[in-house]
Amino acid sequence: MGKEERKVTKVSQEEIARQYQFIDEIKELNYQKEMKTEKKKHYYLATFGCQMNEHDSEKLAGMLNEMGYVEGTIMEESDLIIYNTCCVRENAELKVYGHLGTMKQIKNKNPDLIIAVCGCMMQQPQVVEHIRKVYRHVDLIFGTHNLYKFPELLFNAISSDKAVVEIMDTIGLIAEDVPVERKDGVKAWVTVMYGCNNFCSYCIVPYVRGRERSRKLDKVVNEVALLGQKGIKEITLLGQNVNSYGKDLGDDITFAKLLTELNKVEGIERIRFMTSHPKDLSDELIYAMRDLDKLCEHLHLPFQSGSTRILKEMNRKYSKEDYLKLVEKVKRTIPGISLTTDIIVGFPGETEEDFEETLDLLEKVRFDQAYTFLYSKRTGTPAAKNVEQITEEVKKERFQRLLEVQNRISNEINRNFINKKFEVLVEGKSKNNDKIYTGRTRENKIVNFEGNDQMIGKLVMVNVDTIKTWSLEGILA
Ligand code: SAH
Ligand code: SF4
Ligand code: F3S
Repeated sequence: MGKEERKVTKVSQEEIARQYQFIDEIKELNYQKEMKTEKKKHYYLATFGCQMNEHDSEKLAGMLNEMGYVEGTIMEESDLIIYNTCCVRENAELKVYGHLGTMKQIKNKNPDLIIAVCGCMMQQPQVVEHIRKVYRHVDLIFGTHNLYKFPELLFNAISSDKAVVEIMDTIGLIAEDVPVERKDGVKAWVTVMYGCNNFCSYCIVPYVRGRERSRKLDKVVNEVALLGQKGIKEITLLGQNVNSYGKDLGDDITFAKLLTELNKVEGIERIRFMTSHPKDLSDELIYAMRDLDKLCEHLHLPFQSGSTRILKEMNRKYSKEDYLKLVEKVKRTIPGISLTTDIIVGFPGETEEDFEETLDLLEKVRFDQAYTFLYSKRTGTPAAKNVEQITEEVKKERFQRLLEVQNRISNEINRNFINKKFEVLVEGKSKNNDKIYTGRTRENKIVNFEGNDQMIGKLVMVNVDTIKTWSLEGILA
């Protein structure tokens, strides 16, 4: 696609400036109230779903900070409650409905409370309709594509008695320069692209997040440079399919080229990314992982199913053999690389033989960790119409067998870490013990050890001596 033909994908600076005006208006309102009540306005923000959503919540928090709100931990005492929702599986949605139900009483006690719901779930018209009908105490509903308009929408919700509902059904524009509040001082998420074009037959994400669109290379590099100056040591680049980065930008920009630029950024010590689709994992990227010193030796490469027949049904565009060959190349090129994956159990039509292919793939690849999911029917996706749905009982039984195999493999791999020294980026204190600090190896393994506050944000060497189910333990080397 030529430069001239490219569509406008960016929210204009005027529009962003307009949103800053709403931020100021709410700030003024909050200030007036604060003078009267001598109490700061509090918000309570709950996030469901993936890192993309977590990062969107950092943007919501950034905007709320600018408006003069402070974060509260007690929902009942808040002035504003926001649920940033996920719809990738049914149980994520059910949780949200459960919470919305209990909020009715809180709203009855505090009629000034504003209740907002946003995120992926809201990009489905039937969900919005349901919420409007059943949860009439909800004041504001917005989606993923108009997150940048949150200040204006919140202002409208505060000034009106009626519910404010705005869902943008466009391809989704990229909004730069939205305030972001990152709580972590060591690690940061940076979105490189939005949306997905893959339409895996089970997946709702392309419908709720829109088509793939990449942020401009210089925008990403500038953001990371600023993070480096602020003392951030590790960045994780986010996208549903980061390997497609740049395809819509022209000028031969690829994800590997972006990584090469980011590897030069001062202050940043480690770079991670997720997620990669096996069909798009290029040699250029594999070599970049080998050659760029800041790129960590960890790759999250979801395979979903070990059965070539099911993979076809899933519209994944690779076979079991393709996947195994790819992993072989990755392992050969980047020795010691840690591999993680996502697996779906009980896709419609999955037979015992298909499932055994999945177990076989687990044994052949030997992932460090696998995130396993029971197939969940998502309205609007092709797989939901498939008549060969698998019973919950069979799904659960297969899920259990899968876990047993993977837990054994994870344990065997972790055992190889014992009595070896690893570079650990110290993230902070452990939750349960004051003297224990926690960090990660380049392979993304959590390591706990006795340390001190000065070590936070630094790279230290740790001798691993014990393995736990989800972490390693050791002493400073
Ligand atoms: N873009 C990423 C992940 C998106 S969602 C990727 O393609 O790898 C994260 C994971 O949720 C997927 O990898 C898949 O394993 C799982 N998932 C998606 N839709 C699902 C569904 N309908 N039921 C169960 N699991 C699902
Ligand atoms: Fe969903 Fe597939 Fe896109 Fe991942 S690549 S977000 S699983 S459609
Ligand atoms: Fe869920 Fe949306 Fe992420 S559906 S997994 S929060 S992109």
